[in-house]
Amino acid sequence: MTASDASSTPSEQNPYGAAPAGPKRVRTRHFQTAKQQGIPITGLTSYDMMTAQIFDQAGIDFLLVGDSAGNNVFGYESTLPVTVDELIPLTRAVALAVKRALVIADMPFGSYEGGKEEALHTAVRFMKESHSHAVKLEGGVRSRKQIKRIVSAGIPVMAHIGFTPQSEHGLGGHLIQGRGSGAEKLIEDALAVQDAGAFAVVLEMVPGSVAAEVTKRLEIPTIGVGAGPDVDGQLMVWTDFAGMSEGRVPRFVKQYANVRNVLKDAVHQFRDDVATGAYPAPEHNYE
Ligand code: KIV
Repeated sequence: MTASDASSTPSEQNPYGAAPAGPKRVRTRHFQTAKQQGIPITGLTSYDMMTAQIFDQAGIDFLLVGDSAGNNVFGYESTLPVTVDELIPLTRAVALAVKRALVIADMPFGSYEGGKEEALHTAVRFMKESHSHAVKLEGGVRSRKQIKRIVSAGIPVMAHIGFTPQSEHGLGGHLIQGRGSGAEKLIEDALAVQDAGAFAVVLEMVPGSVAAEVTKRLEIPTIGVGAGPDVDGQLMVWTDFAGMSEGRVPRFVKQYANVRNVLKDAVHQFRDDVATGAYPAPEHNYE
């Protein structure tokens, strides 16, 4: 998002920008404006205060405290074991660190599928205990009631359809969704979450042509994670985009840095310096 919000007063204008002007807050209404004006929305995951500060200062529009913390913080093999109690402190650290970005708390597996009251209870916990500005949950038609209930309580919801990692086993693995006759189901899911009141929807691992069609059909913005260029915004897992993750990353990831190697080199240097006595040098000593 880099243009001004047409509906704002002059003093509120330009809350976006590569080097954001002032501590203006990104709100869910800015997502709508961005879609209407054709301004791309940017999002990254974040799980801690320091990355949140860096991403926020760089002008990223929203930070998702994803249940991908399961793989990237807690060392689990998937997102399935992640709990609300584990995500709340991470989300709080991110929310307290930002001045501008919208912070979205990811509702983990098992915290909303039971029904709309369970979903509301979880969403309220995140809003009260983690200071997040919105929540995200997975599922289209199947999560319609939950989204409606949370939204009716004044809590913004980002929906998530296509490949939904919490359903990895039900879907039969990390498979692209929406191909062939699956396109119809994807559109049905997208319309369902829009109808339920979601302010935006993540499309994960879907063919670009199908994502483009969904984006055209919806009034709310679409946020792509491996959904091609014809969506309203792009979201990446920060450990993938910055080259922090070990091993293979999905095809849709563009690595903008190799932070893992930078850190590794620094650690080797430190270890060698201590071994050779090069650290600490006289300038590091107190008189
Ligand atoms: O948890 C997460 O990081 C996510 C994104 C991949 C959409 O849900």
